[in-house]
Amino acid sequence: MTARIIDGKTIAAELRAQVAGEVARVRRDHGLTPGLAVVLVGNDPASEVYVRSKHTQTQAAGMASFEHKLPAEVSQEHLLALIAKLNRDPTVHGILVQLPLPKRLDTETIINAIDPAKDVDGLHPHNAGRLAGGFAALAPCTPLGCIILSKSVHTSLAGMNAIVIGRSNLVGRPLLQLLLNENATVTIAHSRSRDLAKLCAQADLVYAAVGKPEMVRADWIKPGATVIDVGINRLPTAAGKTKLVGDVAFAEVSQVAGAITPVPGGVGQMTVACLLVNTLRAACAIAGLPKPAV
Ligand code: GUN
Repeated sequence: MTARIIDGKTIAAELRAQVAGEVARVRRDHGLTPGLAVVLVGNDPASEVYVRSKHTQTQAAGMASFEHKLPAEVSQEHLLALIAKLNRDPTVHGILVQLPLPKRLDTETIINAIDPAKDVDGLHPHNAGRLAGGFAALAPCTPLGCIILSKSVHTSLAGMNAIVIGRSNLVGRPLLQLLLNENATVTIAHSRSRDLAKLCAQADLVYAAVGKPEMVRADWIKPGATVIDVGINRLPTAAGKTKLVGDVAFAEVSQVAGAITPVPGGVGQMTVACLLVNTLRAACAIAGLPKPAV
C-alpha cells in the first residue's frame, strides 16, 4: 500500500485565494482593510524566514502587513509598550509575536498583553480558555491547518480515534480541543506516555508534533490511517547542507498509512494561510461585521 500524499501546498494556495476574495469583498463593501502586525525579536534565521513569508503572503492577500523587527537586547518594557500601541492602533486587527522569544523575556507576560480580539495566534488565555470551553475563539494556526488537512481526506472526523503526540501550547493542546470540537475521540501523548507504539496503533488519525526527527515509525501505524506530520526538523547532510525532515519516518510510514502529509509541503504551508484566515476573522469581528465566508 502506498499512501495518498496530502498536498498542503495546493490546499494552502486555495485557502489563501478564498481569503483574498473575502478581503476584496470587505474592502469594497465596508471600506475595511484587515491589517496584521508581526513582531520579531532578534535575528534567528528560521524565524526570519517565517516572518518574511508571513509579510509576503499577507500583502498578496490584499491585507496590510506591519513588520516590527526589534534587536535581541530589547527590554521587556519596550516590547510591552509596542504591544500596547498595536492594541490601540485601529489599522491593526491581528498581532503576532514570533516565538520563541529570547529567554530573558517573559513570554507569558508578553502574550497576555495582546488584546484577545487581536490575538491571531490564539495563545492568549482568553482564547485558549474559550477554545477549551467549546466556545467561538481565535485558535492557533498550525492546529487549524491540521484540521483542514484531515478534512481534505475525511469529510467528518466524528467518532474517529485520534492521537496527538506532543502537548505544546502552540500545537498539541489546542489541536486536542479542535479535534474534540470535531467529535473525534482523542488521546494526547507526550514524553511520559507509556508504550506510544501501542497507543498509536489504535489511531485512525495520527498527529506528530514533538520536534523529534522521524520518531514515528511504520510499525506504530494502523494500516490505512491518516498521518499528519507537524514536525519541521533541520538535519545536516553529508554535503554540508541541511535538509528538512518531519517527526514521521515518511519513506516507511507512507507504505502503511492511507494518507500522509510530506515535509516540506504539508502542514507548514497551512500555518500562514490560517494566520490570514484568523486576521480576516478578527478584522470582521472588531468592525462588527458578520463572520466572513472563510
Ligand atoms: N513560531 C513557530 N510557529 C509559530 C506560530 O505559529 N506562532 C508564533 N507566534 N510563533 C511561532
